[in-house]
Amino acid sequence: MSAPPTAPGSPVDEAAEHLLDELAARFAAARPASAALHRRAGEVLPGGNTRTPLFHEPYPTYLVSGQGSRVVDADGLEYVDLVNNYTSLVHGHPSGQATTELADRARAGTALGAPTPLEVELAAELVERIGSVERVRFVNSGTEAVLYAVRTARAYTGRDDVVKAEGGYHGGAESMQVSVKSLGVDGAGVVEAGVPGAVAASTHVVPFNDAQAAQAEIRRLGDRLAAVVVEPVQGGAGALPAEPEYLQALRRASEEVGALLVFDEVMTLRLDHGGMQSAYGVRPDLTAMGKIIGGGLPVGAFGGRAEVMDVWDPRASRPLYHAGTFNGNPVTMVAGLRSLRELTAERIAAINATGDRLRGFIDERARRHRVPVTASGIGSVLQVHSGHQPPRSFRDAATRSKTLVRCLHLLLLEHGVFTAPRGAMNISTALTPGDLTVVEEAIEASLRQVAAALTDARVTG
Ligand SMILES: Cc1ncc(COP(=O)(O)O)c(C=O)c1O
Repeated sequence: MSAPPTAPGSPVDEAAEHLLDELAARFAAARPASAALHRRAGEVLPGGNTRTPLFHEPYPTYLVSGQGSRVVDADGLEYVDLVNNYTSLVHGHPSGQATTELADRARAGTALGAPTPLEVELAAELVERIGSVERVRFVNSGTEAVLYAVRTARAYTGRDDVVKAEGGYHGGAESMQVSVKSLGVDGAGVVEAGVPGAVAASTHVVPFNDAQAAQAEIRRLGDRLAAVVVEPVQGGAGALPAEPEYLQALRRASEEVGALLVFDEVMTLRLDHGGMQSAYGVRPDLTAMGKIIGGGLPVGAFGGRAEVMDVWDPRASRPLYHAGTFNGNPVTMVAGLRSLRELTAERIAAINATGDRLRGFIDERARRHRVPVTASGIGSVLQVHSGHQPPRSFRDAATRSKTLVRCLHLLLLEHGVFTAPRGAMNISTALTPGDLTVVEEAIEASLRQVAAALTDARVTG
């Protein structure tokens, strides 16, 4: 039997490798300024890089500016932005009144070393929007949001162990650095290098979208378990929506054993006015937040039931200590308030509809040109994979070849569309109908070029 077109090393994959070499050469020829920056970067940053997902061969395009739906690179090339700083810029890049507000706030003080009215307002906005969140604490990244949500659960329950879903990316906290990017054998979670064994031993990995297996593991852990941590839609694992029964099963099982259910909504808050917990109708005990709640500035927050969050109340008998020089930073709070207030249910519905349309467009054109790629995701969050059907789990996504996805990334850049190197895209409210036409024409032209390369190599998807 011949290898499926999605398998690494298949004839399709080999033809795509040749195309990728050509595209990398064309990419480099068009971007001498980025090349020079990358050489210089290599002298001061490991691999010339500071965010691993941004790296791709031969080197990343260095961006110098962004406004609305557009970004410009160091060689003066302009792109329609479908990265939006990895879903955080839900309204695109600040411009006009939004930048005036930021400048005004900076003039009134960038960090004050005391609580400000702004953090109260943003916390109130989050409590009002997200049904399960009664109390909030701000931090500076999604990583910290998850780190502190887990700490809250451990302190509240007096237990150590946590469960996470296979492939789930929750930021850099050590307890979550198990089964992130690498696939373990038979469901075993691969522990990232540098994570102490003692920490990893208290993290247990369950398959994504397998309710029975997850439930069984939660019951097995029983009263050792402090928290079950899950993204309602896995982002880094490949834009993979949870099946409703899976989240319902996690809710039931965690309650049974007295563990807290933590939803990591760092990426998914943009998908529904009340977060994806509202769309699914599943109420977690704690929620990790980030990205859009900072309006493009560094941010994170964790929140949940008042009784649980009270472990942080400085007036408690043994309060947990939570500092953070930049927590609740006023400039971030101003940007976050604007971002959330402008993100009405109607605007969320509109960007979700555009995402659905684009997913449908990619699948339809891929079929038409017989290129084996497909788009996963939900609403405004998408990801391109090789294959004819979107994956249901990280295990499925991770075993597919990435070569065609890399080709499409470089081809879309040639056609003026900026997507993430691993095929992720998202829609901002700044995207205009004209931008969408540019995007669709770029996808059509890119798929045509891939199809021609596969035909030349006498292989087809
Ligand atoms: C679901 C999820 N959790 C946590 C994080 C980490 O957030 P940050 O990059 O702000 O640390 C991310 C970042 O992409 C994320 O997607």
